[in-house]
Order: sequence, then structure tokens, then C-alpha cells
Amino acid sequence: MASTLRFNGRVVLVTGAGGGLGRAYALAFAERGASVVVNDLGGDFTGVGKGSLAADKVVEEIRRKGGKAVANYDSVEEGEKIVKTALDAFGRIDIVINNAGILRDRSFSRISDEDWDIIQRVHLRGSFLVTRAAWDHMKKQNFGRIIMTSSASGIYGNFGQANYCAAKLGLLGLSNCLAVEGKKNNIHCNTIAPTAGSRMTQTILPEDLLEALKPDYVAPLVLWLCHESCEENGGLFEVGAGWIGKLRWERSLGALVRQRTQPMTPEAVKANWTKICDFDNATKPQSIKESIGSIVEALNKINSGGEVSANPTSRATSAATSEFAGAIGHKLPPFYSSYAELDTIMYALGVGASIKEPKDMKFIYEGSSDFSCLPTFGVILAQKSIMNGGLAEIPGLSINLAKILHGEQYLELYKPMPRTVYTYSGEELICYNQFSIFVVGSGGFSGKRTSDKAKVAVAIPDRPPDAVLTDTTSLNQAALYRLSGDWNPLHIDPNFASLAGFDKPILHGLCTFGFSARHVLQQFADNDVSRFKAIKVRFAKPVYPGQTLQTEMWKEGNRIHFQTKVQGTGDIVISNAYVDLVPASAISAKTPSEGAGLQSTLVFEEIGRRLQGIGQEVVKKVGAVFEWHITKGENTAAKWTIDLKTGSGRVYQGPAKGSADVTITLSDEDFMEVVLGKLDPQKAFFSGRLKARGNILLSQKLQMILKDYAKL
Ligand code: NAI
Repeated sequence: MASTLRFNGRVVLVTGAGGGLGRAYALAFAERGASVVVNDLGGDFTGVGKGSLAADKVVEEIRRKGGKAVANYDSVEEGEKIVKTALDAFGRIDIVINNAGILRDRSFSRISDEDWDIIQRVHLRGSFLVTRAAWDHMKKQNFGRIIMTSSASGIYGNFGQANYCAAKLGLLGLSNCLAVEGKKNNIHCNTIAPTAGSRMTQTILPEDLLEALKPDYVAPLVLWLCHESCEENGGLFEVGAGWIGKLRWERSLGALVRQRTQPMTPEAVKANWTKICDFDNATKPQSIKESIGSIVEALNKINSGGEVSANPTSRATSAATSEFAGAIGHKLPPFYSSYAELDTIMYALGVGASIKEPKDMKFIYEGSSDFSCLPTFGVILAQKSIMNGGLAEIPGLSINLAKILHGEQYLELYKPMPRTVYTYSGEELICYNQFSIFVVGSGGFSGKRTSDKAKVAVAIPDRPPDAVLTDTTSLNQAALYRLSGDWNPLHIDPNFASLAGFDKPILHGLCTFGFSARHVLQQFADNDVSRFKAIKVRFAKPVYPGQTLQTEMWKEGNRIHFQTKVQGTGDIVISNAYVDLVPASAISAKTPSEGAGLQSTLVFEEIGRRLQGIGQEVVKKVGAVFEWHITKGENTAAKWTIDLKTGSGRVYQGPAKGSADVTITLSDEDFMEVVLGKLDPQKAFFSGRLKARGNILLSQKLQMILKDYAKL
């Protein structure tokens, strides 16, 4: 059961609380534990006269019911005095309800200066003065809730109320601003446009309606908005008769009516009028930033040659072409990233690798002799550049990130993912990614719907699957997977998920993708990561953490087609997918030269890493290129080059790209003995365990690089 909203310890000031809506608020707050200042000037509804009776009666009523209240009879134009009453009586001020109001209805031409001014003074200026008097106290205590009282008349306009309409919508502007300024101090300001029977409406509303539209049907909204647990800020609500609705701004997509090289004309405005006023695909801007963003975007479009056209169809095309012109072919700036064993292990756990499956140990225990990085970790590196704002910085691509759906994914590896990468500089191509995303509600730009470069999804064979593997995701699967870098709250925050239209947080599509790829690798490649070449998937439906994934696989040569279903519902969540494997025969021929499984590989990679920063200095001292042939059994298992001659030096796999000054051949085991200082290279040379060709004397200089190892 929802807990009762209480206001114990809170001090509430309600202006104009001697009758009508204000009285209902005061009574309701007091009933729920608040101490209430009942302010009322006590005049008539046109603002004439004053008296203490109205406020006193309400205070008395509250006290009779056991509540706490004091009266104040000042006009809201004396904001300081009213707030002082709260401070004197109760020592603080937490909540301000700006409610006091009067009417001076006249048709526009008959509004006198006085009619105009008094309405502005009581409604707008009065709310300003009372709120300003309370503001610093709220800031200091880091809590405040403020209500402004607007009116449907102000929002929509009403005959005979020009003065009142202006003031009432002025209050919304004031509230919008206070919401922005107060946010960081936990001061929230919201606006209501109520409808209720009161002395103010008794001349407008019929008797029975007057009776039915009780102020008590408005008060609960005011109480909720003012509760400490309510996060609403800057909202506008229409409320009456027990119904509450929220209002917001809507803006048409609009039209560009200016060209860079020509003056802007009223004719161009006329020609575009339908589009300017067309609310199809309208946006709902929520901040001035979003508003100005559109203007700046328009300026960019115009400067990049956005066209104007009087022809409705070509207009759509040209505007959109120019809109996306900056985005097409845009290259993201170089992006640097690194990862270590911990990252690849965390990823493997995120996509369901488990100690339950002994063959998975190689992905989750860095001490495994064949410790490997799952191939699909390749998406994480690419995604990092997107999550770090890359997508948001693409010019001309202004999209609502909440509307993005991940449609398809393609990943191709050019070499097995290294188990650790200290710097990812782009010099060595490791993998290639294609993210296909849909932006819901976008389009209409008449451009091509797909790209020639897109890898296409391929239908599954029309026969029962050759193999099916299942895995139950854990309830924490998304919570675990997100640690690899996809922080979208959609996958963990129930409120966010429900805003996006889901019952609860959904699993990341790329998490399901990781599960499926693991299944294929396990079933058809014995978990050998070097056999993984490429993967293509289409995301068809969401998966909820805790559901069981079932990967159905078909082998067709080196291509494994697959689709993934949720067991139980039978829903296909990944469709038309495939993994391309490197033929097993190609691997066994290739492995020795790639140095997989050699201990020396790590050392060479580490030397490469250590060179960074000190490379130039070492190059100056050494000035030679070393080629290494590492043997395993009878064969050369890997070739490495340590170039300490050019630039700031570098280490790479394979023979020297130019010529080597010295070529050293030794076994993987002896290499490790040498670097660990357990085997003297000179002795090894003389005993024939180490062979050297070329300028042998230069090898002595290698100590500079290797000596750190000897100390380990
Ligand atoms: P009401 O006339 O019953 O209450 C207004 C109260 O404000 C009165 O008790 C009055 O004495 C007091 N007041 C007037 N001038 C004051 C001043 N200078 N300083 C202190 N107190 C002052 O009217 P009702 O309907 O309860 O209105 C409350 C608020 O709701 C007003 O701001 C009104 O404009 C607004 N409103 C009401 C609607 C309705 O359907 N009742 C519709 C739209 C807005």
C-alpha cells in the first residue's frame, strides 16, 4: 500500500487562504501535519477593502481539528511581512502556495490603467514578492516547493480578461525560470491552472457546477507537487473535478525559408506556411537549450547551402538532404582506448560465460594457459567511441537518443582480439564494426533507406537446426553487462524503462548477441577464438533479464547461420544472423606464424608498450633493427621485429619491414629464460641454443630494453 504523504515539520504559506481554493489547501496541509500560515487580505473579489475575518476563520478551523496555523492579513504586495510571520511563528518556510487573486474583468478597450495595474500587482508582482522573500531561506535549507497559480484563461485566452490573462501566463514564465534556477538547491516550482467553484467563479459558472467543482478536488495535486518525494519541477497542470492533465509545448518541424546567398522574403514565408504550421512529426522541446539548438542548426544548414523551394515535394528532399549533408561521410575523430584482462573477463561474464562450463574458463580466468578474449568484445571498443559522445557530435544529426533502436550489428575481426591492448591507435586494424540504428519517428527525407556498404542479414536455411544451445540469463545480466560500457538506463532503471514503454528494464541487444556468438563458437569452433571471422545479426525483439536464450544453428560450410529465441515464449529475438568461421585447416597452418600461445608474445607486446614515451631516447642510443625468430619444437612459431632505429621505435609481429641489422633465433622457452635473467645470452649463443646473424655485437644493446625483465 502506498504510504501516506505527510508534511510533519514542514511550514507552509498559503496566500489568499481565507476562502475558495486557498482555504482547501491550508486545511489539507494542516491535516497532514504541516504548520500553516493562513494569509488573506480579506477584501472583495475585485480587490477592494480588507479585513481579518477570512484568515481568522480558517485558522480557527484548523486549530479546532488539532492542526497548527497562524493568520496573516497583509496583502501579497508585502511579501517580506508574510514570510516573517512564518519565521516568527514556526522558525522556517518550506512551501509557498501563491494563490491570492482578484478579478477586474473588462473587454479590452475598457480596461483602465488601474484595472490593468492592480491585476498585475496582486497576481504577478505579489507572487514575485512573496516567493523572493522565501527564496533564500529555501536555498539555505536546500529544500523548497513553490506553486504558481495560473489559469486556463491565460493559457488559451478568454474574452474580457486581457489584464488577468497577461498576469496569469506571466506566472508561468516566472515559474519556468524558478524551476531552472532552483533545481540545484532542491527548490521545485510548478504551476497549476485550476477550475473550482468559488466566489471568483460564482458569476461565471452555473450553480450546480459551482457546487460540484469543489476546491477539494484541486488540493491533492498541490499537496503532491509540494511533497519532498515529488521530483516534478517546471510542470504545468490543468486540474478540476478530480481530473488532472499535464501540458507541454509542441513545436512543428518548421521550414527553412532562407538561402545563404539571398535575402529572406515574405514570399518564401508564405510558400512554406503549410510546412511551418504542420504538426506532423512535431517535437516537444523542453528547454531553452533545445530551442536555441534548433536555431543554431538552422543557421548551420543555411551556411552549408540549405535550399528553399516552393514545391512541396522537392522542398522536403532538399531540406533534408542539407540537414543530413554534414552527417553523411562524417569521420569521427581518432579515438584512443585501452583494455586489460579485467575488461575482457567482465565482458565474458556479461555475456554469460560461466564457471559452470569448464570450456569457458579460458574467457574468465587470466591464469588459464589459453586465456582469450571473446571475439565479440570487438563491439565494445567501437561502442565506447559512440557512448563517449561521438554520435552526439556528428554535425547535422540532431536526434533524440531516447528514440534510437539498435537494428543490426556486423562485426568482422582481422585478427583475434588481443587479450590486452594497452593503446588502440588504429595503426593495426583489429576489427570492423557496423552499427545499424533506427531513429523512431524520423525520416521523410526521401533519401536512400539503406547503404550500399551495409552488410545484409541472411535468411536461415529452411530445415530443422543442426544444433541448439540454451543459456538462462541471470536477473543481474543487464546490470553486469552494462559494466562493459553501455550505460543506457533503459537496461537498469525501471522508471526509465517504463517511460520507454517497457514493463521493466530490458537486456542489451548486444548482450544477447554475445550469448549467441558464444554458442556458435562453442558448438562449431571448440571455443577457438582464432576461428572467429565475422558476425551479422538483426535484433528483432527485446529480451528481459532472467529469460532463457536458445540459439538455433545451421552449418553451411564455414558459415553458421543462427537465430536466437526466448525459450518459453518462442519469440525470435535475433533473426537472420550468421557467424563466418575461418576454416580449421587454415588455422593450423597459420597459428605458428601468428605466435598464438607463445609466452614470448606477451613480452614483445610489453616491450612495445614500454617503448612508448621513451622510444626516441632508446632509438638514439641503439640505432638498430632486431628481427626475432621464435621457435617451438622444430618450427619457427613467430617472427617479431624490434625496430630501434626509426622514429621513436616500434615493435611489431613479422619480419623486419626494411632490413634487420641482426636476426636472433631461439626457442620460446629460452627466450623467456633470457628475459627473466635465468639464461645468459652469451652462454646460450656459444652453446648453440641462441643463433644470431648480422651485427652480433648490437645484441648487447638489447639489454637496455630487456634488463627490466631480469629484475622481475
Ligand atoms: P477566491 O476569491 O475564493 O480566493 C482568492 C483569495 O485571495 C480571497 O480569499 C482573497 O481575499 C484573497 N486575496 C485577494 N487579494 C489578495 C491580496 N492582495 N493579498 C492577499 N490575499 C488576497 O478565489 P479562488 O477561486 O479560490 O482563486 C484562487 C486562485 O485561483 C486565484 O489566483 C485565481 O485567479 C485562481 N483561479 C481560480 C479559478 C477557479 O475556477 N476558481 C480558475 C483559474 C484560476
